[in-house]
Amino acid sequence: MRYRPLGRTGFEVSEIGFGAASWWGKPQFSEASAIRLVHAALDGGVTVFDTGASYSGGHAEARLGRALKGRGDGLVVASKAGTFAKDGRIGRDFSAAAIVASTEASLRKLDLETLPLLQLHGPGVAELTDELRAALADLKGRGLVRALGVNSFDPAVIEHVLGLSDFDTVMVDYNVLRPEREPLIARAVAAGKAVLAGMPLAMGHTGGQVAKLRAPRDLWYAARGLLRHRREVEAGARFGFLGRTPGMTGAQAALSYVLANPDVACAVTGTSRMAHLRDNLAASGLSLPAETLAEIRAAQSRLSLARLSG
Ligand SMILES: NC(=O)c1ccc[n+]([C@@H]2O[C@H](COP(=O)([O-])OP(=O)(O)OC[C@H]3O[C@@H](n4cnc5c(N)ncnc54)[C@H](OP(=O)(O)O)[C@@H]3O)[C@@H](O)[C@H]2O)c1
Repeated sequence: MRYRPLGRTGFEVSEIGFGAASWWGKPQFSEASAIRLVHAALDGGVTVFDTGASYSGGHAEARLGRALKGRGDGLVVASKAGTFAKDGRIGRDFSAAAIVASTEASLRKLDLETLPLLQLHGPGVAELTDELRAALADLKGRGLVRALGVNSFDPAVIEHVLGLSDFDTVMVDYNVLRPEREPLIARAVAAGKAVLAGMPLAMGHTGGQVAKLRAPRDLWYAARGLLRHRREVEAGARFGFLGRTPGMTGAQAALSYVLANPDVACAVTGTSRMAHLRDNLAASGLSLPAETLAEIRAAQSRLSLARLSG
């Protein structure tokens, strides 16, 4: 595993992180299998574990806490506040009081005294109030949080955050389908922020996730894709050639693309399968063949033209 600095935070992090989210954190997925994945990630040198208060119906944080029990030292455990799971739905509350309460609950669930990285989960620009920023500073001052970040897939929000000195990291949606994030990522690093790539495998859609129906979880992934991420599903179908990359799997090619960007500190991947975890960890240090990169660039240009005309 290779390591990169997490901006100005002082942390060195594994360039591949583990996303403790979605199917991994759901009660339908066996706790023993979920914990085995986390332990294999630790054994493979992963030091970033990314979760959120609302992930997996609110179950992911506590499961991650149990999985990391006794093995949490030196890790960047990252959680998110501002969204919460209630009655099968996701709610949002970026008031200062809600963010403080959510962070304190995250610490209890994760069984930590200090959260290495707290990220606001999809705030709007107007929600980044002075009152909220003062509360975040207070959490840091009380030693409950080490570093602060914002996770948003809205470029306008990230652009705004680049001007706010209190935030150390940004997590953006960056993968082969999103080359347009590259100038934003470069500006983030120029502004002193570390960049985490969320969704580096485009939720598996560059590998035809929706057509792979091997187990109940795949139905869930397919429904998520078709109901909520149809654009990624359609765009991902243009990148099927990644699966023919010499010397690596399609997922490794997709991850290598993200990691070839030196401005990315860590690509956070989600998986519920040991073979996929091993595949993803082995992507660290691989180099994308020049011909594959050229094919990716050509597919991105065609995608961009299709988006313009569609
Ligand atoms: N998606 C979001 O909206 C979002 C938002 C904020 C932050 N994040 C962070 O980013 C992390 C990653 O996001 P994500 O889980 O949406 O997307 P992802 O990591 O891009 O993709 C996960 C999907 O790809 C499949 N997969 C993983 N490794 C694979 C491999 N080697 N070969 C083939 N398929 C593979 C997984 O299925 P298997 O279980 O079968 O491996 C799953 O369907 C999250 O865990 C979270 O920490 C995501």
